[in-house]
Amino acid sequence: MEQSKIQIIASTTFGLEAVVKRECQALGFQNIHTYDGKVEFEGSEKDIVKANLWLRCAGRVWVKMGSFTAVTFTELFDQTKALPWGDWIPVDGKFTVVGKSVKSTLFSVSDCQAIVKKAIVEKLKEKYHVDWFDETGANYTVQVSILKDVVTLSIDTSGSGLHMRGYRANALDAPLKETLASALIQLSYWKKDRVLLDPFCGSGTIPIEAAMIARNIAPGLNRSFACEKWERIGQQLWKDARKAAYQAIDYDYTPTLYGSDIDANAIDLAKENAEKAGVDDCITFTVQPVEELKLPCRYGILITNPPYGERLGDLRLVEDMYRALGRIMREDMTWSTYLMTSMEHFESLFGRKADKKRKLFNGRIKTDYYQYEGPRPPKENQ
Ligand SMILES: C[S@@+](CC[C@H](N)C(=O)[O-])C[C@H]1O[C@@H](n2cnc3c(N)ncnc32)[C@H](O)[C@@H]1O
Repeated sequence: MEQSKIQIIASTTFGLEAVVKRECQALGFQNIHTYDGKVEFEGSEKDIVKANLWLRCAGRVWVKMGSFTAVTFTELFDQTKALPWGDWIPVDGKFTVVGKSVKSTLFSVSDCQAIVKKAIVEKLKEKYHVDWFDETGANYTVQVSILKDVVTLSIDTSGSGLHMRGYRANALDAPLKETLASALIQLSYWKKDRVLLDPFCGSGTIPIEAAMIARNIAPGLNRSFACEKWERIGQQLWKDARKAAYQAIDYDYTPTLYGSDIDANAIDLAKENAEKAGVDDCITFTVQPVEELKLPCRYGILITNPPYGERLGDLRLVEDMYRALGRIMREDMTWSTYLMTSMEHFESLFGRKADKKRKLFNGRIKTDYYQYEGPRPPKENQ
């Protein structure tokens, strides 16, 4: 079947646009453009499948239906109705409209959602020559997103967010999203032949994501997606893409990865998760307080998301932990350290100014990603 040109959006957390752009380039997508919170590119139905299956750091993948300026409900209705909804939504399609509006004249999100829904229904009535839709078929979640009076309409191809990889059982208290964990790794100098250590590993997300990168395991291989049931995409594209992804896994490669945590329950969970992800043989998990951490080799890379001390009473403990980690890392300056925290005076506790800092959001929490780059290993250590 001939593949058509589709505008595709990969949504991202603020701060991760460049990482997702790099991923899109690596996957061979065309005409890539970056905006706040999203990366847009042009592709085919096959690329929608590929993006869902392989993007490690994006939030969701959307089909962009159109974009226009609207400051009245009539403008919103007319321009929404003008778009080719029937190209995607079949007569039995079940569609809901979600929305957001920022700094715009049309600020009532619920009214905008209702108008967009009505406009789509009117358009589909004309196409299918019916008055009533049962909505018993596949799901099509339409998003109306308005920013400074510019409306963007898109359909969610992913379903649940792409961080849902299918390997993480019940989350712990402060779980790190898999997409963000993968981004922390991709923002570092870690490569699959370097040792990686997370001394606050919790449920193991950072080492597990690193192992999946090292083994070239597609992050979406263990889950389903909204557009798997879409007529326009078809089952065959999914079958082919999954088959190719299975064939691409490098089970023979075993990276050296470490995860430790003070909480024995967290380590049990991390082991279970690693097993589900098919990478348990790549990671050594240990119950250990960071104060007793021994670096397992030289020239390693520490990537971590420690507690931030935001809970009442935790601040002192967390400050002491950061001091202890700083002391340990200063004993071997061949290591690189990458640490995300919201604590603004982190550098003074750690005892060194970071080589680089990057603003990232962990959920709603504003953090900095502190980056201390050690030397490259001599050839024989690589
Ligand atoms: C923000 S969570 C990390 C979440 C983790 N990235 C994940 O994927 O689930 C911080 C972790 O630090 C651990 N922790 C707290 N104090 C510690 C200490 N003194 N030594 C080592 N780990 C500690 C907690 O048990 C918790 O799992």
